[in-house]
Amino acid sequence: MSIAVAPTLACQKSRFRLDEGAHFLNCAYLGPLPRSVAEAGMDGIREKLSPTPFPSAAFFTDCDRARERFGRLVNADAERIALIPSASYGLAVAARNLRLERGQNVVILGEQFPSNVYAWRRQAAAHGGDVRAVERPGPPPSGELWNERLLEAIDADTAVVALPHCHWTDGTRIDLEAAGGRAREVGAALVIDASQSIGAVPFDVERIRPDALITVGYKWLLGPYATALGYFGPRFDDGVPLEETWISRRGSEDFQGLVDYTDQYREGAARYDVGQTSNFILIPMLIEALDLILEWEPARILEYCRVLLEGLAEQLRGRGWAIEDEAWRAGHILGVRLPEGCDLAELEGRLAAARVYASLRGDALRVSPNVYNEPRDIDALRRVLATFA
Ligand SMILES: Cc1ncc(COP(=O)(O)O)c(C=O)c1O
Repeated sequence: MSIAVAPTLACQKSRFRLDEGAHFLNCAYLGPLPRSVAEAGMDGIREKLSPTPFPSAAFFTDCDRARERFGRLVNADAERIALIPSASYGLAVAARNLRLERGQNVVILGEQFPSNVYAWRRQAAAHGGDVRAVERPGPPPSGELWNERLLEAIDADTAVVALPHCHWTDGTRIDLEAAGGRAREVGAALVIDASQSIGAVPFDVERIRPDALITVGYKWLLGPYATALGYFGPRFDDGVPLEETWISRRGSEDFQGLVDYTDQYREGAARYDVGQTSNFILIPMLIEALDLILEWEPARILEYCRVLLEGLAEQLRGRGWAIEDEAWRAGHILGVRLPEGCDLAELEGRLAAARVYASLRGDALRVSPNVYNEPRDIDALRRVLATFA
């Protein structure tokens, strides 16, 4: 029996318009727009120069296309997808609809991105609950132990487990199947901010079974800023949105009947859509970006990044830089902690001089390539790092 193996992905640099003299290794910060995504936005602008004709159906068709694409990407029904403007927005929807009782807790990861922290802090303060942050148990490699501590922190008083798929500063991987299993054992909801993984890491809603899954569109999905997507599972079917938009009400497709007010929302997660959902510039861009990701496939994107970074981690670890073990690190983000006594400001200056773009987050240098990068970008980084102890 032969097993079908997807061919590896070739470098996609020609689909982008990156500065030739720069080494952009910072997708975890801001994903560059592919040319065709920018074109889709410009088409949207051109159409609004003279909106004739502009049928009312256009307010819905592209939104539904975006839902369908994202649903396909994460293996979920399009109806369960909401179109939102930011991760904070989606996480605020989740927090608003997952009430805590006095004495209950929300388990999060230490130093998690703030979009997945503040909404829980408010909710806990309002209801006499508590946010339990599970801190990294020590310098890397400590991913395995961190995951164990995370499971231990989920107990009978846990109402929500709110996690990323991998840590935003250094790519430490969270075993979401294990965390989800433990959450279900105690009846807690699982909420995931996958802003630093979806697009570059496969995600299967059927397998991980989150109650809510949120991601921004502007990083690994290579879409425009101010776009984000949310999957909301059955726990949210009768929930309350952040806004009371007319377009999320049942029958809103009939523009003649908008003043036949109704208390009913549209089917599915559309009730959580942001006002002015049908952004005629951003939504077509998001659709084009999702089409590219679906064409390239997250598994192949991840493998492309992993191969690019192969060897760098070993080389640096041998010279005293602290790096998470491969088994507990997502392949598209490499966080390296500088050896004792290294000057971060000096490193920043040398990277800038070599036009190597990566992020310094805390005491880690975060390197996050994507399909437009070539080995020469990693070589440029390697040369700068070689000038340090
Ligand atoms: C894990 C994670 N979540 C969310 C965001 C952005 O959140 P928001 O859309 O609320 O600005 C970032 C940005 O760096 C992030 O790293």
